[in-house]
Amino acid sequence: MKTAKASFILTLLFFFFFFFLFLSSSVESITEKKALHKPCKTLTLYFHDIIYDGTNANNATSAIVAAPAGANRTTLSGLMHFGDVVVFDDPITMDNNLHSPAVGRAQGLYLYDRKDVYTSWFGFSFVFNSTEHKGTLNFIGADPLMEKTREVSVVGGTGDFFMSRGVATLTTDAFEGSVYFRLRVDIKLYECY
Ligand SMILES: *[C@@H]1O[C@H](CO)[C@@H](O)[C@H](O)[C@H]1NC(C)=O
Ligand SMILES: *[C@@H]1O[C@H](CO)[C@@H](O)[C@H](O)[C@H]1NC(C)=O
Ligand SMILES: *[C@@H]1O[C@H](CO)[C@@H](O)[C@H](O)[C@H]1NC(C)=O
Repeated sequence: MKTAKASFILTLLFFFFFFFLFLSSSVESITEKKALHKPCKTLTLYFHDIIYDGTNANNATSAIVAAPAGANRTTLSGLMHFGDVVVFDDPITMDNNLHSPAVGRAQGLYLYDRKDVYTSWFGFSFVFNSTEHKGTLNFIGADPLMEKTREVSVVGGTGDFFMSRGVATLTTDAFEGSVYFRLRVDIKLYECY
């Protein structure tokens, strides 16, 4: 009886030993993998979004194209803008100045998809047209915009960015009322050709 108990405890100890060995090795391999995968290209850009508010038609670069029942398309809806869909064609600049020469356009949409906290979903392309870059990069992902930084996927590219993939970190660089915001985009590509 005693030996049976002892061998049971021994088996248990063995099990835990190998379990933790396995755990530590798998944790190690994830950090190792991250260290191994250094970006093949990094790029920091800014884009500027000026939402049409009924008075700024000449200056606006985006428009609310859909709004939930009871709201309209000139003012973002209540309830954290839930249900609003905005289409944009925003200038991209190398620095944080709206009036710097544009190197391309950020074109796509964002839609607000939470009722309890400001959160949107982004799907857009950077369409480059500068002496330095021609081609596109395509972005998709959730944007919990109250967080200081958010990450979206770079799902592909064309031209100078043929078959590129990676991750982009979004930071709200400026926010002026409900009409203007500027996003800083730190792009890290892990696949380059
Ligand atoms: C366009 O809108 C931006 C953001 O609100 C503002 O800074 C800028 O002065 C406006 N430009 C004109 C010409 O109204
Ligand atoms: C749109 O809705 C907002 C908020 O309810 C309201 O203040 C504004 O007057 C409305 N605009 C139009 C053009 O109906
Ligand atoms: C790209 O830039 C050139 C030179 O400024 C311009 O002529 C051309 O229309 C632009 N193309 C697009 C798609 O914006």
